[in-house]
Amino acid sequence: SMFREVKNITCVGAGYVGGPTCAMIACKCPDIRVTVVDMNAEKIAQWNSDELPIFEPGLEEVVKRQRGTNLFFSSDVPKAIREADLIFISVNTPTKMYGRGKGMAPDLKYVESVARTIAEHAGGPKIVVEKSTVPVRAAESIKTILMEAQKHNRELHFQVLSNPEFLAEGTAMKDLAKPDRVLIGGESSPEGYEAVSHLVRVYEHWVDRSRIITTNTWSSELSKLAANAFLAQRISSINAISAICEATGADVSEVAHAVGYDSRIGNKFLQASVGFGGSCFQKDVLSLVYLCESLNLGKVANYWRGVIEINDWQRRRFADKIVGELFNTVAGKKIAILGFSFKKNTGDTRESSAIYVAKHLLEECAELSFYDPKVTEAQIRSELALVSGKETVDRLVKVHSNAAQACEKAHAIVILTEWDEFKTLDYASIYKTMQHPSAIFDGRLILDKKQLREIGFRVFAIGSAP
Ligand code: NAD
Ligand code: UGA
Repeated sequence: SMFREVKNITCVGAGYVGGPTCAMIACKCPDIRVTVVDMNAEKIAQWNSDELPIFEPGLEEVVKRQRGTNLFFSSDVPKAIREADLIFISVNTPTKMYGRGKGMAPDLKYVESVARTIAEHAGGPKIVVEKSTVPVRAAESIKTILMEAQKHNRELHFQVLSNPEFLAEGTAMKDLAKPDRVLIGGESSPEGYEAVSHLVRVYEHWVDRSRIITTNTWSSELSKLAANAFLAQRISSINAISAICEATGADVSEVAHAVGYDSRIGNKFLQASVGFGGSCFQKDVLSLVYLCESLNLGKVANYWRGVIEINDWQRRRFADKIVGELFNTVAGKKIAILGFSFKKNTGDTRESSAIYVAKHLLEECAELSFYDPKVTEAQIRSELALVSGKETVDRLVKVHSNAAQACEKAHAIVILTEWDEFKTLDYASIYKTMQHPSAIFDGRLILDKKQLREIGFRVFAIGSAP
């Protein structure tokens, strides 16, 4: 056989995926030594400190238990590659911001650079696992780079697998501990099957074999893009329905409940909102659209593009609603924004809908005061400066350390993240400190409208008529 039993795993990329995934592998596989490396030395130092670089419920406990036992964080990339039997590539693949495919295609330069680093430092046989989300046939480029090195050094042997990650932020540790499925794609050849079986054995430490799906490489790569596109599409579908509800008196929560009761449709992921955010849905749907276009499948490209268009429109529509209900002018009015992360239980703000709603309101010269339980002031300011400019942000934005403070003297409260604590705020007391009439805009459908109306608020929620 070509490869040794997997005893040493290295993961390149110590981010939202690499960190939690490796913590879980280390926790479930005491016989495997796991090393996470990153070119960002500061991030590695954080992983080795008491303040981890990311917040994820349950992560800190596992990291603190395994660290120094069979879980290591290091910036010595060459050494970790040399020592590994299996290497995860878990680097970022953001939407390209230059050149061909700008604003659409994922940027694969980090993935390629890891492939080159592996080719240079491997020294022996390695199973290379693409965990980053990539377009179909990305594994081919990795393989070509590795095969070139193999030609010049008879000690080298490589197999490239696709093993996309399906965890969601905020529930990463739960998702990793009990995944719906693990997907492994490999080459349809004896060496390909051998490499796949090695990775299957790693997951079999804690995942039932029936939940481990093996496919060819390209099916695996495409399944990841398809899964994210289907999930994003459900949100755009219910958000499209929410607009009909607002115009007709139907209530989107009632519609979602009734529709989702059909077991073929299912009730998950039908929560109407101010639009999906996060680093992946938009990026991956755009990647799929770009792929379709390059394959000359214009109809298919347009079909999936609609998912993004509805999402952008939903954000804009919500911001317009706020301005409209505040008597068509928010210039100089204080508006409290509760929530800035793209969903609850994470401090991640990448592509958060809050950024875009805030941008629209800043264009109308509103004074925004923010509160988010997990996002720092610096983070809020830097995200907003990117879309609205630093001068505007310095002039119009304040960030507070609690919700009540953010709402003081405000004309309106806008809920943009579904943090649990926003459900139980003392709205009666908050109301007394605000300007009147006071409005509240629920972009996440977490508030008790009736109770707020009794307090005196004008209440507006996505997907229902006022
Ligand atoms: P991230 O930005 O949090 O982490 C990526 C890390 O890779 C960074 O720390 C960066 O410094 C490092 N890196 C980049 N190039 C490197 C190189 N050449 N050598 C060493 N380190 C390098 O990204 P993420 O959110 O963990 O996402 C990683 C991949 O996983 C993406 O393709 C993403 O689409 C996919 N994914 C993400 C999630 C999620 O919930 N965030 C879920 C499933 C899949
Ligand atoms: C999503 C997928 O759920 C993961 O399976 C996938 O691995 C990941 O993308 C990825 O590839 O990065 P994530 O973006 O972390 O995970 O979080 P989600 O729970 O999917 O939420 C995404 C966005 O959709 C959030 O802004 C959330 O608030 C919004 N959403 C979600 C809704 O508006 N309505 C819903 O019903 C569900």
